Amino acid sequence: MTQHPVPVIAIDGPTASGKGTVAHRVADKLGFHYLDSGALYRLTALSALRHDTPLNDEHAIAKLAEHLPCRFVGDTIWLASENVTGDIRAEEVGNTASKIAVLPTVRHALAGLQLGFRKPPGLVADGRDMGTVIFPHATLKVFLTASVEARAHRRYKQLIDKGFPANMEDLLKDLKERDERDSNRAVAPLKPAEGAHFLETSDMTADEAVEQVLRWYAEAKKHA
Ligand code: DC
Repeated sequence: MTQHPVPVIAIDGPTASGKGTVAHRVADKLGFHYLDSGALYRLTALSALRHDTPLNDEHAIAKLAEHLPCRFVGDTIWLASENVTGDIRAEEVGNTASKIAVLPTVRHALAGLQLGFRKPPGLVADGRDMGTVIFPHATLKVFLTASVEARAHRRYKQLIDKGFPANMEDLLKDLKERDERDSNRAVAPLKPAEGAHFLETSDMTADEAVEQVLRWYAEAKKHA
């Protein structure tokens, strides 16, 4: 018997590792809900940028996170009445998200929102601390990685496809900085959860990664 009736698959990994695509497809295959926890940090960051809130004003940013007027509708993400699905993917917003993610009260404010995504028949949660902090009793935990070069290539392609400007050298530098910040922060750093399965995807297609996660989940379910 599992401790929690609603199953959770926690997929954690560094930025641009492809975990979003994999987690989304796994959720579709299983008919589960999907939580893009990074989007919540990005929405808070976008909100802070729009309000010109100083990034070191922890109290003000936590307030924004606490009262985030966000909605996830299908594949679109809304901040109040504005569709910000594209805006939150900009590099500036991602970098700002990584900076405010070090603030403990911001993480605390977003934790409750994340737990609310756990609804029947199940949840696939993607982020940095899904298996370590938010859903420590997840049915399956996956730590999904790829080399920094493979990730920079993927991010470059994504940005160009979406019509954003992109520069390979800047992307590599940003990814390294963000990895450093996400992995070395004091609260909920990016690290493999206990019992996590490692998935190195540099030389894998998204479909192969999805199949592997589904195999692990089928196995984990038997023991849940
Ligand atoms: O996964 P992403 O690139 O959309 O996440 C943006 C930033 O948000 C990332 O650099 C760190 C932060 N984040 C976090 O601290 N914890 C999470 N569970 C998800 C994202």
